[in-house]
Amino acid sequence: MTLEWRNASKAYGKKRAVNDFSLEVPKGELLVLVGPSGCGKTTSLRMINRLVDPSSGKILVDGRDVSEIPVTELRRHIGYVIQQVGLFPHMNVAENIGAVPRLLKWNKVKIQARVRELLDLVGLPADDYSEAWPAHLSGGEAQRVGVARALAADPPILLMDEPFGAVDPLTREVLQREFLRIRSTLKKTVVFVTHDLDEAIRLGDCIAVMNGGRLVAAAAPGELLLNANPFIRDFTGEDRALRRLARLSVGDTIGQTTPIAPGGYGDSGTPTGLIRTDATLKEALSLMLEAGESSLNAVSPSGRHMGKLTMENLLENAAGIGVS
Ligand SMILES: Nc1ncnc2c1ncn2[C@@H]1O[C@H](COP(=O)(O)OP(=O)(O)O)[C@@H](O)[C@H]1O
Ligand SMILES: [Mg+2]
Repeated sequence: MTLEWRNASKAYGKKRAVNDFSLEVPKGELLVLVGPSGCGKTTSLRMINRLVDPSSGKILVDGRDVSEIPVTELRRHIGYVIQQVGLFPHMNVAENIGAVPRLLKWNKVKIQARVRELLDLVGLPADDYSEAWPAHLSGGEAQRVGVARALAADPPILLMDEPFGAVDPLTREVLQREFLRIRSTLKKTVVFVTHDLDEAIRLGDCIAVMNGGRLVAAAAPGELLLNANPFIRDFTGEDRALRRLARLSVGDTIGQTTPIAPGGYGDSGTPTGLIRTDATLKEALSLMLEAGESSLNAVSPSGRHMGKLTMENLLENAAGIGVS
């Protein structure tokens, strides 16, 4: 399903929480809303499932004005994940995940099968977790259950409001990686809110930066890091060149810029260091600096020589030449 905010505003008294916000999200795309605390991310998100009604303007889901769609019908198509998860404390994990299917009057067997499938998807073994109580879960486990619950009825749209904001950095990293894997198999239209730019860059197909209720810019991560707008430059920070490198893989880069040598580099002896093709360019830079080398041999995960990565490749990509 597609999503669109069309000149959407929300006023609380004199204050405009969201101010003339317009943006479209194509079907299957993951949009990240990012910006400082209080800039209007949550309010914009909650307009979609009608937890907030815009003071003016409108929200369209598949071209339909959401104010004309009955709330229950609308929300059936929208999964919603929030930071503090909001698991029902008096229900075990399986009952939490099955809550929406039960409302939709699925039969017991179908619900059970769906719960197992979802626990598997989010990496929690059903035999260990089905009967567990929310109070006994770690932060990361609870977030996984929250994601599983939001996906239960297979909604085409997923709204996520700082879903990984309350867990430690290591768990957050794991959850982000797993979420990318899950998403690649599901192809849902997702709006993901975060105040963490690195998270936005890692997850987003498109990143919309908000400030003071307004949309400042919306672009693909690589493009956003090249944006000259003063607020964006300030927000993306001094290390935006490193952030660009962190987005790109060695494999993609040598695919674009260096033809693969017919027999690999083999024993010809030129470069000494090795880098895996699935490493990021940021990791490659670190390796080059550590080894004092201006080039590295790129090898596939199975150890096959795939080509050579040079410091020039890194400079070009850090400067954004040829970045999509
Ligand atoms: N129900 C409300 N009543 C009054 N002000 C609100 C309400 N909800 C949000 N706001 C204000 O609107 C602004 C945007 O809030 P919010 O969308 O929650 O920002 P974010 O999610 O980006 O941190 C903030 O200044 C906030 O205080
Ligand atoms: Mg918020």
